[in-house]
Amino acid sequence: MKQDKTPLLDAINQLIDSKPAYFRIPGHRLDKGISSRWTKRTGTGIFAYDVTETPYTDDLHCPEGAIKEAQELLAELYKADRSFFLVNGTTCGNEAMILTAVHEGQKIMVARNAHKSAMMGLIISGAEPVYVMPDIIDEWGIQGGISPGQVRKTFEENPECKALFMVSPSYYGVVSDIEEIARICHEYGALLLVDEAHGGHVYFGDRNDTSFPKGALECGADMCVQSMHKVTGALTQSSVLHVKLRNLKHKNVDNSIDIDKLCANLHIVQSTSPNYILMTSLDCARYELAQNGKEMVLEAKRLCEYAREKINAISGFRCMGREILGEENFDKISKNSVCAIDTTRLVISAKDLGITGFELDEILFTQYQVNMELSDFENVVAVVTYANTVMDMDRLVEACRKISQNRCDVNKTASSNSINKRLPGIPVQKLTPRQAYFTKAEEIDWKDSVGKISAEMIAPYPPGIPIIYPGEVISQEIWDYLEAFRRDGRHIHGSKDGKLNKINVCNPEGTK
Ligand SMILES: Cc1ncc(COP(=O)(O)O)c(C=O)c1O
Repeated sequence: MKQDKTPLLDAINQLIDSKPAYFRIPGHRLDKGISSRWTKRTGTGIFAYDVTETPYTDDLHCPEGAIKEAQELLAELYKADRSFFLVNGTTCGNEAMILTAVHEGQKIMVARNAHKSAMMGLIISGAEPVYVMPDIIDEWGIQGGISPGQVRKTFEENPECKALFMVSPSYYGVVSDIEEIARICHEYGALLLVDEAHGGHVYFGDRNDTSFPKGALECGADMCVQSMHKVTGALTQSSVLHVKLRNLKHKNVDNSIDIDKLCANLHIVQSTSPNYILMTSLDCARYELAQNGKEMVLEAKRLCEYAREKINAISGFRCMGREILGEENFDKISKNSVCAIDTTRLVISAKDLGITGFELDEILFTQYQVNMELSDFENVVAVVTYANTVMDMDRLVEACRKISQNRCDVNKTASSNSINKRLPGIPVQKLTPRQAYFTKAEEIDWKDSVGKISAEMIAPYPPGIPIIYPGEVISQEIWDYLEAFRRDGRHIHGSKDGKLNKINVCNPEGTK
């Protein structure tokens, strides 16, 4: 196929050039009806691409023309058997993967650092999760990946698991040993589903740099989802789902992916009015990756290396690098839980100055207008892409230098140090997420919740990893962990008021 084509962009151009009298939705008529308050800043051009299904522009839910061709080009580029455009982010792709792999009464192994969209997939599917806890990289206070050893052990205990759902790379660029994990999954006839939200670009890394990660699909994953808006030139909400088809038979049970079912599931989790600007951005992002992908990744790596070196030379600052791959960082079972790191992520710590990641994030934002993607107890994380500039990196480096020089100006948020960065153990599961979701809930004071079954998913943000899933018992350990966030005034996703003063718990007596 010709990777220099952009079928969807060309189709919309054709529609626009035909100068139609337009009576379809959307009502702004290919740009004329957008508020001038907005267009005087942006111009009107891009709004003309906000169109709908027409004979030129095809239909995402039943593609036969431009979208079909654009998706085929995408599949060819990523060496997938099928690829799909998503307009509701990786969130809907994760839901669709889980819904395709498992249904009510079946088991699925889930890495406990999964994004909350995995929980939504569990609720919709009704499947029973069996969790694998990722390792902690102590030196940086962050989660590593899950290891092949952990996966094998969990399959030995739960051979009926139909699939494994995991994240790789993580927000911090930590990459698991997908190749070995895929082998183990397939040995048990299970599908490997990878949330590769942060990894759409790694496929274009220099293959001579063996420490740079390979893509999940290249390593044997059966399905993966990538947020193209996070790391390539696509617009927010634009993601893709790739499928690699293989015969997966285990003890005479066929567990191969059913593409028709996947398409039906994508229909469930996506709008019937998919946004054409988003889809066009995917078409064009794929085009750019095909033409310039290697150079784009190289540029991001160069920028990162440039800043990493300079920041490492600043007193009290350090950046995470390849040294975390050393075996001494892990115990036996989690050995190999980190297989590679994406060096286009810049993980920065000023903990040697007594500055937490949260504090560093705030100082960078308020005093230097440097916007980081994420902060945690110890670190801030920059997502560096080809579209950053040396000037961006210099501003970051300079801000770090000034913070190091003026370290006493830091406004300490005293209690943040009281938060335990070690995640609590996996709680007892009394109900599946779906059973809990459909069980009558009552609201109680958070202080009275120990021993109760949570009806909610509670995920302190950042990093947004659920500490408790619906259906799990709130142990004293979990309570203490979350209480530290609550007392500290941190934002807590899943709790109604965002502050965790109250929590909904299950009353297993009744259904909703
Ligand atoms: C690991 C991971 N998975 C999934 C998502 C959701 O992706 P999206 O924003 O594309 O829906 C995120 C978002 O940050 C994420 O970090």
